[in-house]
Parts: sequence; C-alpha cells; structure tokens
Amino acid sequence: MGKDVIIACDFSSREATLSFLDKFQGKKPFVKIGMELYFAEGPDIVREIKARGHKIFLDLKLHDIPNTVKKAMAVLSNLDVDICNLHAAGTVNMMEQALEGLTRADGTRPLLIAVTQLTSTDQESLERDLMIHAPMDEVVMHYAQNAKRAGLDGIVCSPLEAGKVHDICGRDFLTVTPGVRFADGDVGDQKRVMTPAAAKAIGSDYIVVGRPITGAADPVAAYGRCVAEFCD
Ligand code: C5P
Repeated sequence: MGKDVIIACDFSSREATLSFLDKFQGKKPFVKIGMELYFAEGPDIVREIKARGHKIFLDLKLHDIPNTVKKAMAVLSNLDVDICNLHAAGTVNMMEQALEGLTRADGTRPLLIAVTQLTSTDQESLERDLMIHAPMDEVVMHYAQNAKRAGLDGIVCSPLEAGKVHDICGRDFLTVTPGVRFADGDVGDQKRVMTPAAAKAIGSDYIVVGRPITGAADPVAAYGRCVAEFCD
C-alpha cells in the first residue's frame, strides 16, 4: 500500500458516521474506526463501512496475555479490515502471537502495527507511573525495534519521530502518524503537530487526520487538501 490519508472517524454512532461518509461521493477515503464507535456499534459498523468500499484501520489497541490477544486477533481478521493494532508494551511474545492469530488459513492478513508510547504519556508519567527511567525517545525506538523483531509491519508514532523510526527499522517499516494539522489550522489538544506536506517530507507512510477534516465546514475539500499535500 502506498501513501494515504486516513480519516479518524471519531463519532459515537452509526448515524453520525454514515452521514459523514455520505458526503464523499468520489474517492472512498481510508478510515480509522476507534474504540468509541466500535464499542457503541459492534462489528456490524465495520462490515457496513467495508461494504461501502472504504479501507479500514481498526484502532482497538489490544493489550492482554499473548493467548488472549492471539484469539481476539483471529476474530478481527474475519472482519477483513486493512490495518489492526496493539500495544508494543504487551511484549514481543504478545506481538508474535497476535500476528499468528491475525494470519488467515490462506496466509493473508491485515497489516499489524504497534502503539509505542501514547502521546498522552510524558516523561514524568513514564517515570512516576510506569517506573520506566529511560528517555522517552529511547523507549519509543526500543518498542519500535521490538515490533519489528516480532514481525509487525510498522508503528503508530508522531510524524516528528517517523524519520528516526525509518533510520532504525528500515524504509519499509510503516509509520502511521496522527498529530497532523494544516499550517493555518487550529491545533486543538495536539501538542506536537506537523502539516501534511511536512509529514510527507519526513517520510510518514500514512497520516491519520481527525478534526481538521471531520470538523471542517467542507470536509470533502479538507480531505482533498490533505491528499493534495500528502499524496501528490
Ligand atoms: O482529531 P485529530 O486529528 O487530533 O485525531 C487524531 C486521531 O489519532 C484520534 O483518533 C486520536 O485518538 C488518534 N491518535 C493520536 N495520537 C496518538 C495515537 C492516536 O492523536 N498517539
């Protein structure tokens, strides 16, 4: 898969999501379905959006004992999504088992990427709450290397980290990057942001964009602007 813009569909209901997606009459955007929508509507919303022709990143961030994650991934694999994810903190063994669970009988599977450290975790909470005393960027790169060692396809990271992740894990290791804002746009609660064009220049493979598109007066135009800056 090449470079693409993934719209974070952070809606709480089927109705809100579908009326948003109905606006896109041309190219069907790649969409991210997160916990809020999935827990509200269940797997049917995934099947329905897939049937409408969208690629789907199912952002459920699994983290449990390896056997449980393996079995859960086998279930998600049947939903025929394009990208799934988990927490790298679950260990290399958990990631390996997840990959096994995700792989279908015919050898095909969705891409599997890892969350390293959430951007809501800062150095202070890393040390105080998690008792991890290494610097944040070392932790992120170590978790990225663990994900690569487990055979995963890439990680979710800040666009600011994408270049370094590629240096350490290779150009083919995917970087999926939220925290994207237009140069003239509202940053909101995101702390470390980059424009679509800058994310492209630094080598992000996919950008995940939520409110700059979902909250725009003209979401289709905002999506088009992202695609023009990032993909073209
Ligand atoms: O609206 P906004 O563009 O900030 O949305 C970004 C999306 O990416 C949200 O769904 C958010 O949960 C997700 N995300 C993030 N930062 C991370 C991981 C995921 O913003 N580190």
